[in-house]
Amino acid sequence: MICATGDTHRNFSRFSPDRFPEMRAMTKADTMIICGDCGALWYGGRRDEIQLELLEDLPFTIAFVDGNHENFTALSKYPVGEWNGGKVQFLHPHVIHLMRGQVFTLEGRTFFTMGGASSHDVEDGILDPANPDYYERVLRLLREERRQYRIVGQSWWPEELPSDEEYAEARRTLDAHSWEVDYIITHSPPSGIAERLGRPRDTLTDFLEEIRRKVIYRQWLFGHCHEDRAIDERHLLLWEWIVRVI
Ligand SMILES: [Fe+2]
Repeated sequence: MICATGDTHRNFSRFSPDRFPEMRAMTKADTMIICGDCGALWYGGRRDEIQLELLEDLPFTIAFVDGNHENFTALSKYPVGEWNGGKVQFLHPHVIHLMRGQVFTLEGRTFFTMGGASSHDVEDGILDPANPDYYERVLRLLREERRQYRIVGQSWWPEELPSDEEYAEARRTLDAHSWEVDYIITHSPPSGIAERLGRPRDTLTDFLEEIRRKVIYRQWLFGHCHEDRAIDERHLLLWEWIVRVI
């Protein structure tokens, strides 16, 4: 069985038998895909290790693409391995980060993965502790009771958007699969859907729009927009829904 859900933001309460009774019949051979903003790694260190142990105790394998709310510093410390035909990082034996620009074959179907997204909850700024006016700016925002800011290396990372090399790798991978897969799993929507949802475009949404036009695929699942909605027959926006893919 392969299921999918949207942003968990480190709150995994949806994976309980009262909210998701199907999990009683699942095993580690079954996969739960999280479409980004998993949040399993957030603080770095022991608190994350405890969280990962709790996820390892769930009856299924967790496989997530990264979103914009992941601790990329902590994530970068895990070695890159291989799983079902694509590159991954094993945070625990059954808690797996699906890297960008990969194709995985699960239960005979192919899945193209491309994590990342632009943060939009930053209207009061992205503050860098390396800047001399950092504390002054934080104090001013706290005094003004403004909370829509993030801090470089603590709650915001430039790696939230893919690098040129990651885009190039995605293109190479799709070349190798003749631009045809069964499923596409991303955090961000492509530009055409972002516009329909009233959300801004960026380099990643434009890249995904190119993918949408060029790739032959059956279904595209994404998160980021904090809403559960079937955009149309082939595009599914996920937040708290848990859907069965296969
Ligand atoms: Fe999110």
